[in-house]
Amino acid sequence: MLPRYRSSEKTSSNPQNCNLLSFVIGHLSLVIGYLSFVIWYCLPYLHSPLTIPHSPVPIPHSLLNMNLDSQTPQDAEEPMFSHIPVLSREIIEGLAVRPGGHYLDATLGGGGHSRLILKTAENVQLTAIDQDADALAAAQKYLNEYQDRVNFVRSNFAAYDFTQSNFDGIIADLGVSSYHLDTPERGFSFRHAASLDMRMDQRQSLTAADVINDWDEAELADIFFKYGEERLSRRIARRIIERRPLHNTVELADAIASCVPAKYRYGRIHPATRVFQALRIFVNDELKSLETFLDKAPNALVPGGRIAIISFHSLEDRLVKHSLRNSPLLRVLTKKPITAQEDELNQNPRSRSAKLRIAERRE
Ligand SMILES: C[S@@+](CC[C@H](N)C(=O)[O-])C[C@H]1O[C@@H](n2cnc3c(N)ncnc32)[C@H](O)[C@@H]1O
Repeated sequence: MLPRYRSSEKTSSNPQNCNLLSFVIGHLSLVIGYLSFVIWYCLPYLHSPLTIPHSPVPIPHSLLNMNLDSQTPQDAEEPMFSHIPVLSREIIEGLAVRPGGHYLDATLGGGGHSRLILKTAENVQLTAIDQDADALAAAQKYLNEYQDRVNFVRSNFAAYDFTQSNFDGIIADLGVSSYHLDTPERGFSFRHAASLDMRMDQRQSLTAADVINDWDEAELADIFFKYGEERLSRRIARRIIERRPLHNTVELADAIASCVPAKYRYGRIHPATRVFQALRIFVNDELKSLETFLDKAPNALVPGGRIAIISFHSLEDRLVKHSLRNSPLLRVLTKKPITAQEDELNQNPRSRSAKLRIAERRE
């Protein structure tokens, strides 16, 4: 057994060490506290809006031409139509593009998927629809070398006049493009203060500002719950009413962040993400348009023709899944949705939530 004095000797000889230790621990806690505060404070700004399906992490322009031939380099002065075609391998393979075929791209965007269709087989004809004038202008330039084979149409795909048995394949890559999210004045994102617009088709009169500033509390709560699956919809709607009029995207995001619990405020996604998604879907009547499109499109396929649809959130995917499955004209080719593979996930964060479903018109 050790003599007792040894332990007392040990303690009595250590006051300096103890002081030093407390000094170090004290300062360490201060530094950790400071760092945590900085991280907490910055977190909301690190998140981009709409992380649910359309994770708009700014995409390096160098990735733009991935999977595309780069004969038409993008002009750096142009608005950034940096949409990387999501699931491009899978959609082109699934479509089984054939020479001389006629295809429909119902969501032209920057023209990424269209270009792949055009270069996959000889003499392919393409009808390309978008309701956004900026998208059409950018894609027309991007697809310049194929212009004699492309028919550009500015329209909502739901309003498009489908002709029976006209297309060998139809694709739709739903929702907004990175261009929309990255262009502040379009009002889709709360990364920059911009007017609450959110219209994909700028000819439309209803904007997000109209909804946020004029609609009543119960209606707002309904929109947030139905289209954003937002659990705190009522509380958020109440706060918006208290703070109205809201002049821009950042004021709206701040109002939302101010009324949610702290754990929500500093969670995985910014607390305004779901509300922004809901508003966007509502303003553009996205689900109704999708429903109409899914109803009309199968009839426009030739027998054996294929329809391939990429969706980015569960509300869309549910509609696509049921509509393809329930159509008497179609045979579903994807029992489970196709999702992005590792290499694409690493290159394009937006592909994380993409789901591709494909069906074929029965003979
Ligand atoms: C995700 S982007 C498509 C990107 C495109 N696949 C590419 O590779 O560049 C979706 C595009 O579809 C358009 N869009 C969305 N809903 C639409 C609708 N109902 N009718 C017509 N265009 C629509 C949007 O304006 C946007 O430009």
